[in-house]
Amino acid sequence: MDAVLEIENIEVVYNKTVQVLRGLSLTVPRGAIVALLGSNGAGKSTTLKSVSGLLALEDGEVTAGDIRFKGQSLKNRPPEKLVREGLFHVMEGRRVFEDLTVEENLVAATYALSGREDARSRGYELVYDYFPRLRERRRQLAGYLSGGEQQMLALGRALIARPELIMLDEPSLGLAPLLVEEIFEIVARINREQGTAILLVEQNAAVSLAIASYGYIMENGKIVIDGPAEKLTANEDVREFYLGVGGQDGEARSYREIKHYKRRKRWLS
Ligand SMILES: Nc1ncnc2c1ncn2[C@@H]1O[C@H](COP(=O)(O)OP(=O)(O)OP(=O)(O)O)[C@@H](O)[C@H]1O
Ligand SMILES: [Mg+2]
Repeated sequence: MDAVLEIENIEVVYNKTVQVLRGLSLTVPRGAIVALLGSNGAGKSTTLKSVSGLLALEDGEVTAGDIRFKGQSLKNRPPEKLVREGLFHVMEGRRVFEDLTVEENLVAATYALSGREDARSRGYELVYDYFPRLRERRRQLAGYLSGGEQQMLALGRALIARPELIMLDEPSLGLAPLLVEEIFEIVARINREQGTAILLVEQNAAVSLAIASYGYIMENGKIVIDGPAEKLTANEDVREFYLGVGGQDGEARSYREIKHYKRRKRWLS
């Protein structure tokens, strides 16, 4: 298979003491949307930081395994180089420059690409085509945008780089359901029209599996279940604990209400 990203059996330790990832493997095929799901503290963001190199900033280290981007190992690769090579990490929490306008945020995004002669000529039209709201607000300070608009801007900054792979960390966090749907539809369109592969980290399994072709669910630093999105959506445990439907008593419920030990027991038995 032609993979853009291969994570093979990695272990990650923070502060030389706390092991967070325990033999995690996943693959993102070129041009695909892959969902990485799991509850709070499972290690989703740590997985993305391991790929983009941001782990080092938090005194974290990949102590075993390998990560390959377009077939090449990412070991010892400086993070700033990766953006130019086509890998973009949209961090948790909509990191935008609040004191800059929307358009200045996009300008700043092109600085990271200096040295790639085609960066500027593309302009920002592509971003505004996907996010018309950003066009309307191009002269507004990013700090005054709504949460959803800030998420759009964070995505727009990724788009400027025309990456082959975008890693998105919880784009739905704190947004109203309708806005989440709007943003996920645009993510699916970007994938379809630009051919950009997406590794989508989410707690919101329902909307993620709706646009992904494949999904992984992680618990406690490793993958506990994975499969084609439609199979996961039909899986009884996934439905009960991650999609909030079904269950033994037939009542809709959120996985948040379910005790951790119960999930583990059912998946590991
Ligand atoms: N810089 C750090 N130093 C030490 N421990 C950390 C650090 N960052 C994360 N951890 C720990 O690693 C575990 C996984 O954290 P991570 O942020 O990867 O989870 P997550 O799946 O992204 O969770 P959430 O859904 O809440 O964002 C947690 O137990 C967390 O406390
Ligand atoms: Mg996280």
